[in-house]
Amino acid sequence: MSNMRTPFIAGNWKMNKTVREAEEFAEAFKKLYKDTEVKTAICAPYIHLATLKRIFAGTSIGVGAENAHYEDAGAYTGEVSVAMLEDLGIDYCIIGHSERRQYFAETDETVNKKLHRLFQGPIVPILCVGENLEQREAGREKEVVEKQVRADLAGLTAEQVKKLVIAYEPVWAIGTGKTASPAQANEMCGHIRQVIENVFGEEAADEVTIQYGGSMKPANATELMNMEEIDGGLIGGASLQPEDFMKVIDF
Ligand code: 13P
Repeated sequence: MSNMRTPFIAGNWKMNKTVREAEEFAEAFKKLYKDTEVKTAICAPYIHLATLKRIFAGTSIGVGAENAHYEDAGAYTGEVSVAMLEDLGIDYCIIGHSERRQYFAETDETVNKKLHRLFQGPIVPILCVGENLEQREAGREKEVVEKQVRADLAGLTAEQVKKLVIAYEPVWAIGTGKTASPAQANEMCGHIRQVIENVFGEEAADEVTIQYGGSMKPANATELMNMEEIDGGLIGGASLQPEDFMKVIDF
């Protein structure tokens, strides 16, 4: 399989930063940022999205949300719809992050509905999958991730899957400082690509972007990015400071 995929490094701020802090980050990051062949985006809390769009206008830095609702509008207090994000010109949306699965009752079924809705418009979904420690220790990690991928992508077309970004994020490596070894990360990203090939065909498998996420930072980005099956990173902690994040992009 020839690898024509563009590297893609995205930040996930999670529940961090005030509006002032987001503005300061964006101004500083815009100055540091050099347009390279690596695609870049920051995914941030809803209240920062308009600010980031304004400051990054005219650059190639993408802006993403961290979640969205699949209904366009209605009585869903506290939610923000894909339609609203489309109106704001948002580029990406993280779906199914393990923290949402763990703490906010996100299921493969709701993830699937969100992906179907996102693919009606231009926003590129970043689908997160990954096993927890207990599942890895039981040797079930591949089975668990395969089940997530199959359920989350049910009913999508190969054309849609080609545009998708999948982030493999082992739960035991998130925010723990414990990174999956490059070999472990590469093996699972390869497994995900194989599952995509089995379900959606070789072209979809060749084009889908697969990121690794979990304590990825300047010190380990090169090693991870040099692995054949790893096309990018989803960066939590190391995306909160402009210098750190720029170093990861410069891997
Ligand atoms: P950390 O980089 O802080 O481990 O977070 C990873 C993550 O969950 C990105 O979505």
